[in-house]
Amino acid sequence: MQQMPQVEIAPAKGKLGVLTPGLGAVSTTFMAGVFAIRKGLAKPIGSLTQMGTIRLGKRTENRVPKIKDFVPLATLDDLVFGGWDIFEDNAYESALNAGVLEKELLKSVRPELESIKPMKGVFSRDYVKKLDGTYIKSAKNKWDYARMLMEDIQKFKEENRLDRMVIVWCGSTEIFLKRGDVHQNLEKFEKGLKENHPEIAPSMIYAYAALKLGIPYANGAPNLSLDYPAMYELAKQTHAPISGKDFKTGQTLMKTILAPGFKARLIGVNGWFSTNILGNRDGEVLDDPESFKTKEESKLSVLEQILQPDLYPELYKNLYHKVRINYYPPRGDNKEGWDNIDIFGWLGYPMQIKVDFLCRDSILAAPIVLDLALFMDLAARAKFSGIQEWLSFYFKSPIHLPELYPEHDLFIQLMKLKNTLRYMKGEEQITHLGADYYEYYR
Ligand SMILES: NC(=O)c1ccc[n+]([C@@H]2O[C@H](COP(=O)([O-])OP(=O)(O)OC[C@H]3O[C@@H](n4cnc5c(N)ncnc54)[C@H](O)[C@@H]3O)[C@@H](O)[C@H]2O)c1
Repeated sequence: MQQMPQVEIAPAKGKLGVLTPGLGAVSTTFMAGVFAIRKGLAKPIGSLTQMGTIRLGKRTENRVPKIKDFVPLATLDDLVFGGWDIFEDNAYESALNAGVLEKELLKSVRPELESIKPMKGVFSRDYVKKLDGTYIKSAKNKWDYARMLMEDIQKFKEENRLDRMVIVWCGSTEIFLKRGDVHQNLEKFEKGLKENHPEIAPSMIYAYAALKLGIPYANGAPNLSLDYPAMYELAKQTHAPISGKDFKTGQTLMKTILAPGFKARLIGVNGWFSTNILGNRDGEVLDDPESFKTKEESKLSVLEQILQPDLYPELYKNLYHKVRINYYPPRGDNKEGWDNIDIFGWLGYPMQIKVDFLCRDSILAAPIVLDLALFMDLAARAKFSGIQEWLSFYFKSPIHLPELYPEHDLFIQLMKLKNTLRYMKGEEQITHLGADYYEYYR
């Protein structure tokens, strides 16, 4: 076997603190799940770090370890949870309200969840119109809010005797904001914090506070948060890994599974209509057109990039893509997403595909939070800083360098992720060429 250099990775010793701004449906489902798994009451279905394997070397070598046995990850027993919210409910009360997990399961991890009490959030209704937070910090400007968050983080670290920390944004979707002048570099951004610049949303203040302390930060919502040059600069300065945006679950996950298949077989698509009903707090927030706009942008970009209409105009030039989300309280967290896909084949003959996905949003998102926490911590210990494109697998709108296009195809994303793990450990990249096995290559 060809010897490759290994990346030096610091060991995963001690406790890893996982803080989530937002202690709502997704984050409490993640935390309750980890507690239940630790007690042997459930299995970590959907988590690549816990269940996934990785092939190494040639197919004839039969080396296929579990990912968690291949790279040094924190174990579930090493995790300590905390977070911020704009309501005072502890994680148990919040999980009950969210109504994702059964009461029986929640009771079995009640003391652990009750001990997770949120810290006061940084919040303004200017950025999330549908929520009226009652448990929020007050300060004279955004710079002071950032300092208060940094104090929270440091206090949490000391009180829990943590070795390392990661932060995963699980808060609500904010209104749509574009990159402005204030986001162009760190100096302008810090000036903006001091001057209460209106284009600095609360989620950006959390990201700033974390990165200033060199803590890895992943963004689970479509908010602009840390996807602009000022934050890339800060992340490089403090050697912090960053990733985002918007957990890839539900309907978009289905799109990035189906669309690469159509393109692979050169099947044309001229219409893709997607609609959803959901009744949780996220659904209520997204009922506001300004928050929906942020989500819509994130959901729409996916097909365009996967299908590449510029390269395949006969197949995808006329694609009409529409996404709707409707708030419908009776469904709670159990979303229903319908897709009508108008496709065409040989000689242009039309066909249709209907997808009706009765999905559970937070059940799909929770393992993503776990994997991101563990992989972002791994990245930090491997001294990877800035944008972690190899974690695009988990996001609807992967953060990417301006000169590159993002990769949305789930299968390419998975290959990229696994090749990064192989690279870290000095294992050969797997190309699937097969030249080692067949004579006709010679
Ligand atoms: N569930 C999914 O499948 C999925 C997929 C992609 C993205 N997301 C995103 O993840 C986020 C969380 O989703 P959810 O279903 O848990 O929503 P949720 O409404 O249950 O939880 C969000 C929590 O964030 C809190 N919050 C809002 N602003 C805050 C702030 N500034 N500081 C601290 N806390 C704040 C809210 O009070 C709420 O408790 C949303 O932005 C959602 O769009 C979810």
